[in-house]
Amino acid sequence: MKYKQVKWLILTIPTITIALWEYIRHEFLLDYISMDIGNLLSPILVFIVTLVFLRHLFSILENIQEELRKAKTKKAALIEREKLARELHDGIAQSLFLLSVKMNKFGRKNHLEHDPDFEKIKQTLQHVHEDTRQAITDLKYLPNEDSFSWTETIQHYVEELKNQHLMDVHLKWEIGESTLSSKEKVELFACIKEAIFNVIKHAKTNQVWIHAIEIDNGWICQVKDRGIGFTNKEHQSKKGYGLQIIKDRSRDMDWEFSIKKLDNETIIEIRKERK
Ligand SMILES: Nc1ncnc2c1ncn2[C@@H]1O[C@H](COP(=O)(O)OP(=O)(O)OP(=O)(O)O)[C@@H](O)[C@H]1O
Ligand SMILES: [Mg+2]
Repeated sequence: MKYKQVKWLILTIPTITIALWEYIRHEFLLDYISMDIGNLLSPILVFIVTLVFLRHLFSILENIQEELRKAKTKKAALIEREKLARELHDGIAQSLFLLSVKMNKFGRKNHLEHDPDFEKIKQTLQHVHEDTRQAITDLKYLPNEDSFSWTETIQHYVEELKNQHLMDVHLKWEIGESTLSSKEKVELFACIKEAIFNVIKHAKTNQVWIHAIEIDNGWICQVKDRGIGFTNKEHQSKKGYGLQIIKDRSRDMDWEFSIKKLDNETIIEIRKERK
């Protein structure tokens, strides 16, 4: 029922009740109910109707108002986050892009294209740029909302990946909305984002698979790619934080984390098995 309808019902129900009662009383009940008793019954009847119907209508009205308030707060937060995302995009992200253009020019001018140190600086700059873009994407979500709809959030994120990073994402999500607690959803989402961002940054491919299934006593979530894989051991041991953070998150949540290589697939797997 809509807000306006409820309001009008609250306003008109007592009037209609008393009008109906008076009509019935005068037309049909005068022989059975005396004037004095009828007068006494009128307020009692209105009171009972008020208790039965209006209380219910008032609670509907309160619920609608509460929902409106929540929606307003959510919208305000989203607007703020989008503003921040825009500022990040128009400020830092564009400056970083300009910086990378200048770096390339500088490299060409000074014949530094094959200088390993220069390459490293360029790579770092590219990563900072990608991290900033990721932060911009992240700002468009409200991960701690009560009404955090997992499936919706994941699909929204996949759309962003397709549009912003031109990734080809194959999503097969078969874990029910109620299987994961709110905390699990937030933590797992963060892990998936890092695993996918690693594919974007390191795997040299634009295809990624997100597969999640429920098993007898838990669930499995995998992020797969068919890119270059963890080929360079030296590279793996360098000081990235992403994988370590996924490991720590998994440990804290009592999940199993593993990195697998199957044929040409690199698989980041998080698994929960209730003991
Ligand atoms: N999907 C992948 N394919 C190939 N290599 C990967 C993949 N994911 C991670 N790696 C390798 O593992 C290393 C460690 O990843 P990690 O996420 O810990 O660090 P990072 O991405 O380099 O930096 P950070 O996440 O701190 O910004 C990466 O530098 C990269 O060499
Ligand atoms: Mg990383």
